[in-house]
Amino acid sequence: MTEVSPISASSPATFDGERTRKDFPALHQEVHGKPLVYLDSAATSLKPQAVIDAVTDVYARDCANIHRAVHLLSQRATARFEEAREKVRAFVNAAKVSEVVFTRGTTEAINLVAQSWGRAYLREGDEVLVTELEHHSNIVPWQILCQQTGAKLVVVPMTDRGEVLREAFEERVTERTRLVALAHVSNALGTVLPVAELISLAHERGAVVLLDGAQAVSHVDVDVQALDCDFYAFSGHKLYGPSGIGVLYGKERLLEGMPPYQGGGDMIRSVTFEETIYNELPYKFEAGTPNIAGAIGLGAAIDYFESFDTQEVHAHEAAVLRYATEALEAVPGVRLIGTAPGKVSALSFLMDAAHPHDIGTIVDSEGVAIRTGHHCAQPVMEHFGIAATARASLGMYNTTDDIDALVGALRKVQELFG
Ligand code: ALA
Repeated sequence: MTEVSPISASSPATFDGERTRKDFPALHQEVHGKPLVYLDSAATSLKPQAVIDAVTDVYARDCANIHRAVHLLSQRATARFEEAREKVRAFVNAAKVSEVVFTRGTTEAINLVAQSWGRAYLREGDEVLVTELEHHSNIVPWQILCQQTGAKLVVVPMTDRGEVLREAFEERVTERTRLVALAHVSNALGTVLPVAELISLAHERGAVVLLDGAQAVSHVDVDVQALDCDFYAFSGHKLYGPSGIGVLYGKERLLEGMPPYQGGGDMIRSVTFEETIYNELPYKFEAGTPNIAGAIGLGAAIDYFESFDTQEVHAHEAAVLRYATEALEAVPGVRLIGTAPGKVSALSFLMDAAHPHDIGTIVDSEGVAIRTGHHCAQPVMEHFGIAATARASLGMYNTTDDIDALVGALRKVQELFG
């Protein structure tokens, strides 16, 4: 079907993506009478049976609230919830579990920093720096904060390949920059930003740095201490875990100096009508009953993911991405959007013949799930002068067969619209 050669046995990846597929029940179904080909892991990844079992087991066995009761079920649920926090700590190599705050997801984690740290420390004349390739969830919370404080949002432009260059960044990070909010990996383009270099530049100017790691955690190894980022946000559901659970990592020193984000149960040490004393970290930021099963499911997802050599998982995905890039480039009328070297997972593209929504609908009828639209990154679309792209994105279970199926479906699009 395509001219490119399949990945040979001498591919550097020894991780077996094909064998992994048996662990993901959702893959083993037909849609529109065709075997499902799932190429939308940037939107959400599928869940392995181990995660589904962990979540089911919480509700079937250890169904109790946490941190509240002496009864055994509550003790078991609390222990499992806190074990999950330790798994997250080790996964991103945070120094302490107290630096790991459970949230609903990346979006809530970023809003927490904006409304707690930002409201407390930003003043008129201060600047918040973002890049042109951010997801809306790493733009809008800062816009709201700027409206509230009189601070100014400054944007670092990207290149036509979808890169953020050091020079462009260096020009805009100044002594007025109080906070830099950067995607670790772009959801629309797959670009991996040179975050270590940018963090060090930002720190030289005295700015605090938040990384949006939603698209990164399943595709690059993350070590928050080595990166020296101040905050790191990510979601469970893009890491083969449940939706509705996410993480904010923050340096203890910063979290200590921040007021609570929400008030309620569990975030207090004592309450009177005169005065409330807040709980210690991380509970100060975890008001209300959390997503207990979600956190435990995220712990199970980390266990599952780390049962493989993650370097090999990344190498496997990189090989499939290379294959996909060549295969799509070989389809007449296809134009790739986002061609930064070293990119991961996401392949955004346009076709001369059809609008992205038509592409999405037709490939869906062939059993191939991709995302179409602006991917919650309208400034990226504006940069390229387009309204939308079609986007195929990879997970650990994707193989070159999936790409062949996508290319076959795109040829159908051409037949219909060409
Ligand atoms: N932000 C997710 C995506 O890129 C939902 O699809």
